[in-house]
Amino acid sequence: MKDIFEKIEKNMGPIGEHSKESHGYFTFPKLEGDINPHMNFRGKSLLNWSLNNYLGLANHPEVRKADADAAAQYGLALPMGARMMSGNSDNHEALERGLSALVKKEDTILCNFGYQAMVSAIDALVDRRDVIVYDAESHACILDGVRLHMGKRFVFKHNDIEDCEKQLERAKKLAETTGGGILVITEGVFGMRGDQGKLKEIVALKKKYDFRLFVDDAHGIGTMGPNGGGTGEEQGCQDGIDIYFGTFAKSFALIGGFISSTKQVVTYLRYNMRSQIFAKSLPMPLVVGLLKRLELINKHPEYRQKLWDITKKLQSGLVAAGFNIGDTNTPVTPVYMNGSIPEATNMVIDLRENFGIFCSMVVYPVIPKGMIILRLIPTAVHTDEDVKYTIECFSKIKDKLYGGQYMADKIREGFAQKL
Ligand SMILES: Cc1ncc(COP(=O)(O)O)c(C=O)c1O
Repeated sequence: MKDIFEKIEKNMGPIGEHSKESHGYFTFPKLEGDINPHMNFRGKSLLNWSLNNYLGLANHPEVRKADADAAAQYGLALPMGARMMSGNSDNHEALERGLSALVKKEDTILCNFGYQAMVSAIDALVDRRDVIVYDAESHACILDGVRLHMGKRFVFKHNDIEDCEKQLERAKKLAETTGGGILVITEGVFGMRGDQGKLKEIVALKKKYDFRLFVDDAHGIGTMGPNGGGTGEEQGCQDGIDIYFGTFAKSFALIGGFISSTKQVVTYLRYNMRSQIFAKSLPMPLVVGLLKRLELINKHPEYRQKLWDITKKLQSGLVAAGFNIGDTNTPVTPVYMNGSIPEATNMVIDLRENFGIFCSMVVYPVIPKGMIILRLIPTAVHTDEDVKYTIECFSKIKDKLYGGQYMADKIREGFAQKL
């Protein structure tokens, strides 16, 4: 018999194996100070493009006050227990009603973590006779929900409607033999590439294949649609989304999530989602803070307009400067470049240390070898100046990258001594 810790000694996992060189800098960095476009990293103020604070609510004075007042009034513990047992309140129910109105669904269930909500809702919705059809580039919470499924699943190529239909044909044949149904799962906005899920086209397939559609709109809630009601609202097909998921971790700048659907489906989820039945409900100050955020989202469409104004300036500026930003049609802005992992790390060090810019870097194994993505998340609180400065700096680092200046280990070696 082996000690299960033995394998950990040999293999820390694809990201963990780099922990020695990366911890505290590339992974687990500490961003300090108020949540703003400019935050402190290792004692220096950097222009930050890595937070999903889309509408700028994280440090909004009314939000800060509501959070503080609610914490003082209720304490952080209330209510104790799961919603079903002893953790319900009028505020929890008021927030659910408000969210239902925002996303135009009959009812909503609050969830204590977005990730767990997705996993657990998928688990509750399907049984072994049902078939799941899902997008290949789905977020980990969808993949993990699908992993719990005891029945069959078919994956379609990312946003490829022809392939989606092919998988639906297979799913339909199978479901007819098992006596089950079909659940299609995709995202409103794909957080890495920034492209929207082709929800309208998927909804159109319902006539032929008779399935239910579950959309993870973590990046779309608050950012997409004339009222911030999400990607279904943006594409004019919200009615065709049977089950809608939104997180509080992005536009709402808090933690937790919600699922909206018909009254009957939400009631079923309230009584069958294991992650909510067997876990503590959202603390009252969070719920009161979320009511304030929802009020601001409803009252101030100009925050969303500002987000889109900055997004358009950033994206058109990058394209005009010769950058490839792929097929994003949302605020998520990936900047694609070619280079090795050492070049990518040197470039990011240069960006942080010498240009004062902080953004996320994505490399192999998340994307193919030889590709680098620097991902920028614009927000309503970034300025035109921030955009202009960033595009200038990006042009400089691109020239350095393609001039081979990041190939030498000089920057990295010099830096490693400082770590
Ligand atoms: C597409 C998507 N789904 C789900 C989640 C999980 O949400 P939460 O952070 O609320 O757990 C995220 C967050 O990163 C996400 O990007």
